[in-house]
Amino acid sequence: MSDPRHALRARFDEAIVAAFGTDHAGTDPLLRRSQQDRFGDYQANVAMSLSKRLGSNPRDVAAAIVENLDVDDVCEAVEVAGPGFVNLTLRADYLGTELGATAADDRLGVLWAEAPETVVVDYSAPNVAKEMHVGHLRSTIIGDALVRILEMLGHRVIRQNHLGDWGTPFGMLIEHLVDLGEEEGAHELSVGDLDGFYRQAQAKFNADPAFAERARRRVVALQGGDQQTLELWRLLVRESTRYFAVVYERLGVTLTERDLCPESFYNPMLDDVAMELESKGLAWVDDGALCAFPPGFAGRDGDPLPLIVRKGDGGYGYAATDLAAVRHRTGKLGATRLVYVVGSPQSQHLAMVFATAGQAGWLQHARAEHVAFGSVLGPDGKMFKTRSGETVKLGALLDEAVERAASVVAAKSPDLDDASRADVARAVGIGAVKYADLANDRVKDYVFDWDRMLAMDGNTAPYLQYAHARVRSIFRRSGEDAPEPDGAPVTIGERAERALALDLLSFDEVVQSTAELSAPHRLCNYLFGLASTFTTFYERCPVLRADTAEQRRSRLVLCDMTARVLRSGLGQLGIQTPDRL
Ligand code: ARG
Repeated sequence: MSDPRHALRARFDEAIVAAFGTDHAGTDPLLRRSQQDRFGDYQANVAMSLSKRLGSNPRDVAAAIVENLDVDDVCEAVEVAGPGFVNLTLRADYLGTELGATAADDRLGVLWAEAPETVVVDYSAPNVAKEMHVGHLRSTIIGDALVRILEMLGHRVIRQNHLGDWGTPFGMLIEHLVDLGEEEGAHELSVGDLDGFYRQAQAKFNADPAFAERARRRVVALQGGDQQTLELWRLLVRESTRYFAVVYERLGVTLTERDLCPESFYNPMLDDVAMELESKGLAWVDDGALCAFPPGFAGRDGDPLPLIVRKGDGGYGYAATDLAAVRHRTGKLGATRLVYVVGSPQSQHLAMVFATAGQAGWLQHARAEHVAFGSVLGPDGKMFKTRSGETVKLGALLDEAVERAASVVAAKSPDLDDASRADVARAVGIGAVKYADLANDRVKDYVFDWDRMLAMDGNTAPYLQYAHARVRSIFRRSGEDAPEPDGAPVTIGERAERALALDLLSFDEVVQSTAELSAPHRLCNYLFGLASTFTTFYERCPVLRADTAEQRRSRLVLCDMTARVLRSGLGQLGIQTPDRL
């Protein structure tokens, strides 16, 4: 079942062992889809790399592999080409059988992970009493796509929303809350003017020495566990998280209250972490502060760069919390993979945390990855801001997305009733924002452009959602249900049918590599390619007016499977697929 490359890999392995001995068992044949028809369906590039190891000519290596390759049941042609590529053309009956079997599979050929892991995904992580900015939006969207994909593969995923709820700014924030009167202050937060609240507190802190002094004393009270202070702090946290929950809900992400594991959660562990690092000789007091010096990090002057575990005043900061989080996630939660969906500016911080945690032995049975991403830019190529230069509020941004999508949908489908039009506008608007974020290689910056993300053609959510709805409409028009997925072989004749079948059977491979590389844009590109291949197929191959009943059934299976793969793929990206658009 599923991707023919699974079968081909096994056959290549046998051939390579037969030709070059068991030392070379398990060599990846490096199978790729061929870019042009004349190179067959797949190309194996293994002869190039293997010839280097063997110290021989790649064409000879390719010939020796082909000599031993037993694929008569899978391929109709095998050819050595160019410097040593092996070009493979599948037999149409093999392809049809695999496609029929995969169509009958609920998972559309996507295999379960062979060794399911416990994966912690750290994402979203906004800060209390601060507006969630577009960076948090990226983290939320990318992180949510990754958790969905990992879960689809059978991994146990633990979402961790590492909320910024601790630190010295809480002194001034609490005092500002006291000045406003608890009720009013809380109200201001709950309507979502978090940045306004923060700015006012900051302004008072800078301008009024008495206020600044109160703020400093408040920090001490907070750290000392003063009851009244903690209550005020909790109020700030509660109102902010309520606001974040609204954004999550509107975005349709899977994060809930239960996934909150804020910075303050680690407070009781920080003394232990510091002691353990000190006793292992990994941290020592330098200039009053307890610092770790993971190897490989130097400042501009060439001196080793410190990771500050405990400040001179005895307080713990961001790094200590992150060290405790690694220890907790691998030690207590049992994670073997830690995924941090955090902006690129924090690369060095995370690299130092991972290095120190590694030295301490907390990553002995786990690996930690920084899934970094670039900035969101405005049309002017600078950081994305509102016209008046303020940070963009996510609530307003999502409203605008849905509003704009509503006009797009109204123009495209004037006959939808009002209620479904509102639903579709939500799916399209939110989908467009998410897809624009996911479709680019995440490490790059991207330009936030309403017209482009809502375009009905191009690599956009509306285009893919429309492609999906169009296939569904074929079944609506024909008045019949999709063919019963009974696993019967499909007839593959035309080139356009073959191309579509090959694309459909690649779904597993794409999902696997997307999960492995934490690279949602791979899945996006695949879905976009699939929709284009489908368009060509639909232009060239009559479906409802096919020549024979068997051809009609086969083409309907191809249509149905295209819709299902689009739906599943977009679903893994957190994007809805309405049946009508
Ligand atoms: N709250 C941080 C920020 O807004 C992001 C936290 C990322 N996660 C972490 N474990 N450090 O920049």
